Amino acid sequence: MGGIFAFVCKDPMDLSIINKSLRKLIYRGYDSAGIAYLKDGDLVIKKIVGNISKNEINVSDKARVAIGHTRYASRGWPTLENAHPLTDCNGKIAVVMDGILDDYEKIRDDLITKGHKFVSTTDTEIIPHLLENSEDYLNSSLIVLKRVRGIYSLAFITIGADKIFAINSGQPLMIGITPECKYVSSDLPSLSGIAENAIIVPENTIAVISWNEVKVYNIEGNEVKPEIKRVKYKEEIAEKGGFPHFMLKEIYDIPQALINSFNSLMEKYLSLASMIVYGAKNVYIIGNGTSLHAGFISSYYFSEISLNVNVVSAAEFPYYALKNVTTGSVIIAISQSGETSDVIRSIKMAKQRGAVILGITNSVGSRLALESNVYLPITAGPEMAVPATKTFTSTIVVLKVLSLYTGLHSGKNDRSEISSLKSEIEELAKQLMVRLPEMEKEAEKLAPKLDKESLYISSSGINYPIALEGALKFKEASMTHAEGIQLGELLHGPIVLTNKGYPVILIKPVEAEDLYNKVIRSIKERGDVIVTVAEDGDMKSIKATRDLTPISNVIPLHLLAYKLGVRKGLPIDTPPGLVKAVIV
Ligand code: AGP
Repeated sequence: MGGIFAFVCKDPMDLSIINKSLRKLIYRGYDSAGIAYLKDGDLVIKKIVGNISKNEINVSDKARVAIGHTRYASRGWPTLENAHPLTDCNGKIAVVMDGILDDYEKIRDDLITKGHKFVSTTDTEIIPHLLENSEDYLNSSLIVLKRVRGIYSLAFITIGADKIFAINSGQPLMIGITPECKYVSSDLPSLSGIAENAIIVPENTIAVISWNEVKVYNIEGNEVKPEIKRVKYKEEIAEKGGFPHFMLKEIYDIPQALINSFNSLMEKYLSLASMIVYGAKNVYIIGNGTSLHAGFISSYYFSEISLNVNVVSAAEFPYYALKNVTTGSVIIAISQSGETSDVIRSIKMAKQRGAVILGITNSVGSRLALESNVYLPITAGPEMAVPATKTFTSTIVVLKVLSLYTGLHSGKNDRSEISSLKSEIEELAKQLMVRLPEMEKEAEKLAPKLDKESLYISSSGINYPIALEGALKFKEASMTHAEGIQLGELLHGPIVLTNKGYPVILIKPVEAEDLYNKVIRSIKERGDVIVTVAEDGDMKSIKATRDLTPISNVIPLHLLAYKLGVRKGLPIDTPPGLVKAVIV
């Protein structure tokens, strides 16, 4: 699994472009990286173990053909041997792959019996060995595509051919096109500033790419002509800007991101998207993790306009909700990366059943944006830390605006509510800009109280999903087990564990103040640790209107989880074994 970046050019090109482009792909994996290129009739390979954004691959060279990879170790440990590119027995073919192969063990055993020598424990290594039997690489690629099951895309180069061969069997693969070079990449945003036109390689095809020509073949070996798309994006650079971690920097980005997200939503797309939702036979909101939690919050917005929506994890959606999806169904698919495979798989299935897809994503060139009938951008700016923060708060803004526009069609809302929301967001952002340093200090002071084996986070109503989201942040940023729980449910058994010294973070709800006070009393009677998040709480949240309280309440939780992670000396931005986008 990982990110692929490759080029083939008319004239030799500086290989630093691979280091730079792979850094844009680290959300797909960051535990090792490598480059292979052709030089003086030979194949040169350089690899590193570790995150390419911290540790460059040392190549001060030029080449006409090169491939690169940043890896997430899904099969085989993150070692130099397992880093891509991987080669055949003669060191003639170098392969990089994104994805997972299903039946590789059987094929590997078969190849070993036939005398092939393996040096890694990855699934990818079967590919160069399968390719090495013939020099007709289009034909051997067709054999691979037909024989090897799994969800993957790959690219390879070989001594003697100034070409890149690429296979798409279910993972994204793009070809950036310029007059002098062709580039292969796992996503479109990494091509920004490099190529303004691109081919999105269709599934189950093979591309043979020279500097001046791209030929694409289907699984029968017949040439197909994919469309060339225009892909001009603003290149956004993610820097820590003096902060010790991206997570903290991205929390400080929240106020401006809230304003940008609101202002970037365009009337014509909002009208179209809201009309689609209003006219839907049924509405499903899908996403994973943080995006799912944003979806839960939106169900409170949609219920205000008497619209029942079904919020379902994209991982579960195919197993029951899909059955009720027909023509007339609308799927609101949320994914900040736009690449999460559960989401992509679910929308593809829903589309086959006639559903309309409304995407909400922070990545305009992502697979979600490409697969959606219409999409709304989150516009939070690049988010590098694996624990999502500003994309969550900005997604809430997008969903709130979408619900308001939907309410315009039914007459439940009027336009004045849209301008009121704008002012409320601006006021919240203004307060946040002033108060964030103080909140950070509060969090630092409270973090030791939470340094326990496990903790509860609880609230009610529109802030219940914030308890779930806070618990997710504690797991990722501070490696602390945390459970988000509805306030009333705390009393139905779980409270017993507070006797064991499990702290409880209580987020003051908007509607259930009596219950909140009762729970505080019950826990205090047991003499246990409570941290309150409220305007007048231990962690002081900013005063906000009901629908924006999820934003004002989640920030103290972001900061608490972050400070606990710092206290424990953890790699907060890149928790072990986690990637920014779960792509397989
Ligand atoms: C959030 O902190 C997590 N890293 C994770 O749960 C994430 O939200 C989830 O994988 C979905 O990602 P997406 O929004 O890019 O689809």
